[in-house]
Amino acid sequence: MKITTIILAAGKGTRMRSELPKILHNIANRPLLQHVYDTSCQLENNTIKIVYGHGADLVRDTLKDLAASWIEQKQQLGTGHAVQQVSDQIADTDTVLILYGDVPLLKLTTVKQLISNVNDQSLALLTVNLDNPTGYGRIVRDASGQVTKIVEEKDASVTEKLLNEGNTGIMAVQGKALKKWLNQLNNNNAQGEYYLTDVIEMAVADGITVVTNQPESVDEVLGVNNRIQLSHLERVYQQEQANRLMELGVTLADPARFDLRGSIENLGIDIVVDVNVIIEGKNSIGNNVKIGANTHIKDSIIGDSVEILANCVIDNVVIGQGSKIGPFARLRPETVLAENVHIGNFVEIKKSSVAASSKINHLSYIGDTTVGSRVNIGAGTITCNYDGVNKFRTVIEDGAFIGSDTQLVAPVTIGKNATIGAGSTITKDSPENQLTLSRVKQVSLANWQRPIKKEK
Ligand code: UD1
Ligand code: CA
Repeated sequence: MKITTIILAAGKGTRMRSELPKILHNIANRPLLQHVYDTSCQLENNTIKIVYGHGADLVRDTLKDLAASWIEQKQQLGTGHAVQQVSDQIADTDTVLILYGDVPLLKLTTVKQLISNVNDQSLALLTVNLDNPTGYGRIVRDASGQVTKIVEEKDASVTEKLLNEGNTGIMAVQGKALKKWLNQLNNNNAQGEYYLTDVIEMAVADGITVVTNQPESVDEVLGVNNRIQLSHLERVYQQEQANRLMELGVTLADPARFDLRGSIENLGIDIVVDVNVIIEGKNSIGNNVKIGANTHIKDSIIGDSVEILANCVIDNVVIGQGSKIGPFARLRPETVLAENVHIGNFVEIKKSSVAASSKINHLSYIGDTTVGSRVNIGAGTITCNYDGVNKFRTVIEDGAFIGSDTQLVAPVTIGKNATIGAGSTITKDSPENQLTLSRVKQVSLANWQRPIKKEK
């Protein structure tokens, strides 16, 4: 069986009050449309067609990597009109699946169930029972419970409005029949639109059975029309991810204050995550890792038994086993820390490697630097890596000890087991095993007197 998925995504989304087309708003850092696309990508034998319109250039440009064909609907004349744009690309034998680009949390299991209900004799419709179905098309059934049609809210009679089974808009249908019905659509209705929902009545007239199923949870079929709904679905999505992580052996201090905006590809067990942690991009986290409150981690690989204290920002970094980071550390891209490294408060590290058991515990900037093992970098050390035009490297060899308040003016190498005296400005290579310092000799003036305040 070949599937053609049509994702309707041409609408404006006026109630978002945004310059950005609605489907480009994010849930967990991924556009709404991307969520729908990613779900449909998991269907086998599937071709994806996206009907787009509002914000056309921006939509195409933002999502240019999707393996889908794009069909522009220049004027948005209704859901039926949207599907008509694809009509000539549908094969008779296709099973056509209609999805909405602004309904991001639909589950693959629900879609598969829907598709399995389609054949020459039946059309599959996803419906949902709602306490308050206002705004939804209502599913009308006959005395025997068979679906006879869908009536849009604006066209519904008083009694039809009382029906609480809503149309999700999501359906699956045989290609040949769909094309025939699309040809017969008209816009003689309250909104003057071509309603896709009108195909239901046509199907029934052709002797086709309408088979319905419902999603496990209403959240699966909720669309995003405003930013309140967007935030609701963000929380639903985050709670699902949190549940999955907890099932896999992660302790979350508060799942409502945890955000995963990406993935953790390799996930250990006994990871403990305190509140307000954000994990973004592609990551890997080992066993027994502790992540402190208010920490932001992006595209990083974190080894076993690493402890990250509160308020750290970690972006594109590798942290070796047993290392201890923070609080208040900022690790910037291309930083690689080996095992048992200690990075303390107010330390910024960029594009540098730090070998095993080295310590940079207080108030330092280390950039474009190779740090050996067992190195101790004192408080307030700065690698001066930039002359305003070019960047230069600093090399600090194994066992070196850098005294506090030192500037290492790159390019410069500090030899093995060298000691740098506190308060030095090092501009030349410092030999191994020696003490190097550059400091004005200290003097004391024995007969010096404090100034005395002049009388007026
Ligand atoms: C539609 C259904 C309604 C259902 C509701 C569920 C019809 C006639 N009505 O109503 O029964 O209860 O969805 O949310 O189908 N779109 C286009 N081009 C268009 C019009 C819409 O691409 O010309 C897209 C929108 O971007 C959106 C989807 O289709 O993703 C649904 O459009 P929307 O206007 O929200 O549908 P409703 O009128 O609310
Ligand atoms: Ca509409």
